[in-house]
Amino acid sequence: MSEERLIGQEKRSEDQDWELTLRPLSLEEFIGQSKLKENLRIFIDAARARREALDHVLFFGPPGLGKTTLAHIMAREMGANLRATSGPVLERAGDLAGVLTSLEPGDLLFIDEIHRISHVVEEYLYPAMEDFSIDIMIDKGPNARSVKINIPRFTLVGATTRSGLLTAPLRSRFGIIERLNYYDQTELAAVIDRSSRILKMDTDAPGSLEIARRSRGTPRIANRLLRRVRDFAQVRAEGRVTQEVADRALQMLDVDHEGLDPMDKRILEYVLYQCEGGPIGISNLAVGVGEDAETIEEIYEPYLIQQGFLKRTPSGRMLTPKAYEHFNQKPPRSISSGGLFEA
Ligand SMILES: Nc1ncnc2c1ncn2[C@@H]1O[C@H](COP(=O)(O)OP(=O)(O)O)[C@@H](O)[C@H]1O
Ligand SMILES: [Mg+2]
Repeated sequence: MSEERLIGQEKRSEDQDWELTLRPLSLEEFIGQSKLKENLRIFIDAARARREALDHVLFFGPPGLGKTTLAHIMAREMGANLRATSGPVLERAGDLAGVLTSLEPGDLLFIDEIHRISHVVEEYLYPAMEDFSIDIMIDKGPNARSVKINIPRFTLVGATTRSGLLTAPLRSRFGIIERLNYYDQTELAAVIDRSSRILKMDTDAPGSLEIARRSRGTPRIANRLLRRVRDFAQVRAEGRVTQEVADRALQMLDVDHEGLDPMDKRILEYVLYQCEGGPIGISNLAVGVGEDAETIEEIYEPYLIQQGFLKRTPSGRMLTPKAYEHFNQKPPRSISSGGLFEA
C-alpha cells in the first residue's frame, strides 16, 4: 500500500495503534456491508452448530475497507485463535509448514495480501486446504524422502486487494468468497460517529457527514481524517466539530469536496491536460504522475471509476464528462457523446 510505504515506520505504527483502538470487535459493531455480514452470520452459526471449522474464506476489495477487521471478528465469533501472516512473508514452503504444523484444531490462519505468496508456497497450500495434510522432507542426501503428515482442521482466511491476480486453482479452493465494496456516506458517517464516541469527541451530525463525504468511501480514511479534524478543532474551535470546522480542516489537508486527494487530482489532471482526456495506457499514466502502476490500479483507479470520473476502455483510461465538469472544462464531443471506445 503506497501510503504505508510512504509514511515512515514510526508513523505507520502510530496509525496501527489507532486502528486497534477503533477496530470493531463483533459483526454487530461492524458497520455496512450488510449482505456480506448476513452471509458470514449464517456460515458462522452453521459451523458452530455443527461444531466444525469454517470453510476457507477469501475477502477481496480495496485497502481500508475492513478485511483484516473481519478476519479478527470471525475468529472471535468462532471462539478460535487467529494466526496472522502475509503473502510476502511466506517465502519458502518451509515457512508455511512451520505455521501450519503449529495450528490447533479450529484455528483461523489469516494470510493478508495472499496474491503475493510465491508459486511454491501456493502449491504447498493446496493439499493443506483440501485434505488437511502436507508433505514434509525428512533427512538429507540419498536418504531424503517426503512424508505426509496430517495437520489440524483449520480455516484459511485470505485477504487481497487484487483478486484478479489470484490463480484459478487457489481461488477455487475457497468455499466462501466475499467482496467488500466502498461505503456510502451514511455508513461512513456511522463509522465516524462511532469513532467520535470512542475518542470522546464532540462531533455534530453535519460535521460527521462532511467528513464522510470526503473519505473516499473508506473507513480507514474516515478515521484518519477524523483524527486530523480533531487536532484542528482542538486548536481552532474549542474541540467542537461542526460542518464548518470539518470543512476548514479538510481544506487545509487538501482534501477536496468530492473527497479527491492530491494524487487523485493529479491523475485526473494529467489525463485532462496532458492526454486530451485519454485514452491512455496504465503504464504511461504511471510514469506521467510518478506513481507505480500497481498502486494506481489498486488504490486510486477503483475509486475514480466507482465515482464516475474515469473509465476503463480497451485502449486505455479515459475521462468522463463528470471529470471535465469537476475541473470546469467543457468535454470534447467524442467524450460527451459517450466516447469512441466504449467498452
Ligand atoms: N465496517 C466497519 N465499521 C467500522 N470501522 C471499520 C469498518 N471497516 C473498517 N473499519 C476501520 O477501518 C480500519 C481499517 O480496516 P482494515 O480491516 O484494516 O482494512 P483492510 O484490511 O481491508 O485494509 C479498521 O481499523 C477499523 O477501525
Ligand atoms: Mg488489512
